[in-house]
Amino acid sequence: MPTPILYDCDPGHDDAIALVMAHRSSAIDLLGVTTTCGNAEVEKTTSNAIRILDFIGASHVPVAQGCVRPLARPLILGTADGPSGLEGSPYLPMPRRTALKQHAVDFLAEKLEEAPEPMIVVATGPLCNIGLLVLKRPDVLPKIKELIWMGGVFYRKSEIITPTEFNAFCDPEALKIVLDSQIPLTMVGLDVTMQVLIEAPQYEELAGIDTPLGRLVMDWLKFYEKLHRNSMGVGGAMHDPLALALVIDPSLVRTRPAHIGVDLNATYAFGATVADFWQERGEADNARIAYEVDADRFFALMFDLLR
Ligand code: RIB
Ligand code: CA
Repeated sequence: MPTPILYDCDPGHDDAIALVMAHRSSAIDLLGVTTTCGNAEVEKTTSNAIRILDFIGASHVPVAQGCVRPLARPLILGTADGPSGLEGSPYLPMPRRTALKQHAVDFLAEKLEEAPEPMIVVATGPLCNIGLLVLKRPDVLPKIKELIWMGGVFYRKSEIITPTEFNAFCDPEALKIVLDSQIPLTMVGLDVTMQVLIEAPQYEELAGIDTPLGRLVMDWLKFYEKLHRNSMGVGGAMHDPLALALVIDPSLVRTRPAHIGVDLNATYAFGATVADFWQERGEADNARIAYEVDADRFFALMFDLLR
């Protein structure tokens, strides 16, 4: 039986690939998509989500638009995806339908309330909508079986891993609200997502998928990798596809529990996610974080779904 999910995202090239995987996987029943600001303004991420879903034959999947900015601060846009949030796909038709009138938070609440069983929510953007859901509808939180979120960075800060991760940095107050909410949270951070980079072998594999979708994803990745290649000298990271893939195969990563704090007052580490692995703070664990990934198995799954 496919796993029903709700998917909150800010497409965004890597969100876009995750969206394609969610629809094409027989292990997932994509009940709805909600959009947030982040990689682009929410009007653009919503338009992109609809364009992608309609292109892949998923125009039956409802899309509900969410927060226009973070809960407590101005919006700082991500820079990897270009002004439209999905540059590099000129022949992706413009949306032929609109988002629901319902706000994303109300849509999420309604779907969770009517779900027969608690369900998985995947989030791959800033947590504005999820944070607002916690504040507005705490009654439906027990219906979230697990929140799988692409966000944070814990272990390795290095020349290719920044001290803060964008989704956490963009709305750290929303993240704090979610961390304090007791929602079962799995954090898929840069520690693992910067190990699933699109390099020559992956481009070769993708070039073999000679379909309109294969060609679209190639165009996306060629644009998406520019920022990574120019700034860090590496290929585009499959941040959001890895988070989404955990719905299909949680064994792709190894996780460990920890209390996660988020820095709301720092200067250079503003929005940093800091793990207390050894209970030194004496605070209860509030998340599980992914610290190892089987990159080969992930790519095998991703390309299977794109083929
Ligand atoms: O830091 C990576 C995250 O920021 C991904 O979700 C990507 O889409 C961007 O939103
Ligand atoms: Ca994203």
